[in-house]
Amino acid sequence: MKLIDQYLDQIEKEIKNSSLSAKTEEIGFVEELRDGVVMARGLDNVSFGEIVEFQNGVKGYVIDLMEDLVGIIVLGDYLGINSGEQIRALGLTLSIPVSDEILGRVVDPLCQPQDNGKLIHPDKMYPVETIAPTVVYRKSVTVPLQTGIKAIDALIPIGRGQRELIIGDRGTGKTTLALDTIINQKSEKVICIYCGIGQKNSKIALVSDLLQKQGAMSYSVIVNASAADPVSMQYIAPYSACAIAEYFMDKGKDVLIIYDDLSKHAWAYRQISLILRRPAGREAYPGDIFYLHSRLLERACRLADSKGGGSITALPIVETLEGDVSAYIPTNIISITDGQIFLETDLFNAGIRPAINVGLSVSRVGGNAQTKGMKQVAGRLKLDLAQYREMAAFSQFESDLDEETKKLLNRGAKVTQLLKQEKNKPYSLAEQIVVLWLAYKGYLDTLSPEEVTIFEKKILETLKIKGSEIVKTLIKEKMISEDTEKKMVKLISQIAEVKKV
Ligand SMILES: Nc1ncnc2c1ncn2[C@@H]1O[C@H](COP(=O)(O)OP(=O)(O)OP(=O)(O)O)[C@@H](O)[C@H]1O
Ligand SMILES: [Mg+2]
Repeated sequence: MKLIDQYLDQIEKEIKNSSLSAKTEEIGFVEELRDGVVMARGLDNVSFGEIVEFQNGVKGYVIDLMEDLVGIIVLGDYLGINSGEQIRALGLTLSIPVSDEILGRVVDPLCQPQDNGKLIHPDKMYPVETIAPTVVYRKSVTVPLQTGIKAIDALIPIGRGQRELIIGDRGTGKTTLALDTIINQKSEKVICIYCGIGQKNSKIALVSDLLQKQGAMSYSVIVNASAADPVSMQYIAPYSACAIAEYFMDKGKDVLIIYDDLSKHAWAYRQISLILRRPAGREAYPGDIFYLHSRLLERACRLADSKGGGSITALPIVETLEGDVSAYIPTNIISITDGQIFLETDLFNAGIRPAINVGLSVSRVGGNAQTKGMKQVAGRLKLDLAQYREMAAFSQFESDLDEETKKLLNRGAKVTQLLKQEKNKPYSLAEQIVVLWLAYKGYLDTLSPEEVTIFEKKILETLKIKGSEIVKTLIKEKMISEDTEKKMVKLISQIAEVKKV
């Protein structure tokens, strides 16, 4: 063999054994910086939702693709980014680390701890934006999600996998309603996620304190993008909270997620859109504002058994101005959700708390999930209340009313009194059934409103001491059988004040 062939052989071998491989990287440049939004040039092959990295290590999220520019929202401090600096596309869609360790924690939308606790070890990476499960992978809503609030469980029942909007003016008890529902999940094995969007950090601290005190933090997660955080964080917060919920749902668990609130989320998106110079539409929101919330709320569902049978129940909160539900964002979200709980300032100020307007509130699918016992006592109640409201308005001008109307007004007033509930005091299903049964059977008709409250308290105390058998059968049978009813009548006869009509 010639010397030259030997050399060639040698070279060939070395090339074969070398580990050199070509790696291409997408590099672009900051063209313009606009208040948390970067316009970049040169990133021709990035896709929507991809993450990029700036020179100082801060990450960005591609949100706008134009002919030669790319709009990126900065996920972090944007003050260290300079015009002309390099941007690297990472070729990944935005994902967050999730694991069981996240329970009991307060995190930001990227799952970084905000509670001075240790870092969360990821079990899996979950994409922040996903496509909602299709109809084939879904099951209808049939299992109730007990809120522990009498008025809701009786009149506007919520099922697991449902989306129910909580809507009302400032300070009408929206957050309290949502938190009470979390507190009531202690015995229900439902994992709860509270997502605060654009709120004061002090309010989030109160939420975390309350859940801690009530022993609810062990099965809850708080995702917080406060008013002080960049709008980019506020924008992705609900999606990333939903990704955490999906992690647990995929494990077959039932999850409750609260978005507090989506009005502020819409504001954050409007701000980003206006900076990106997208055409503004009604109330200066961009044209795709409907899609912003529909793609989020569509991810709430109850999975089919083949997919593990888990569920996500979503309770989005929306703030209205002067009770105006026909504003842009409220109407959009009302049309996306399966019903709404409407809270009113007038009721709140009149001492009717929770300030639920029963007439304007509906639950379109929850009825299928209501337990039989609840249906037995609540069916009449709804009718009574509806007639009462109608009559109450008329009767203000009328002096002599017929007996029938008087009876109706009396019943309505007592039921309204009965549906009042202190905050952070959820009722168990058995307690609710017994208490509502009193109204159904007319035990309250002869009492004054103050007496109704006292009577209710007494009944609950007696139920605790002497009624454990009734509670047990109610929980087991989930309905009032003849036998149980007899026992309930007997129990009530032990309380002195009862004057049955
Ligand atoms: N059922 C209730 N009984 C007594 N007080 C209540 C009840 N519900 C709410 N409150 C009180 O009303 C106030 C407002 O409640 P909350 O913060 O839940 O309202 P919000 O609608 O979430 O307000 P914001 O618009 O500021 O977020 C709080 O001080 C709360 O303690
Ligand atoms: Mg609130």
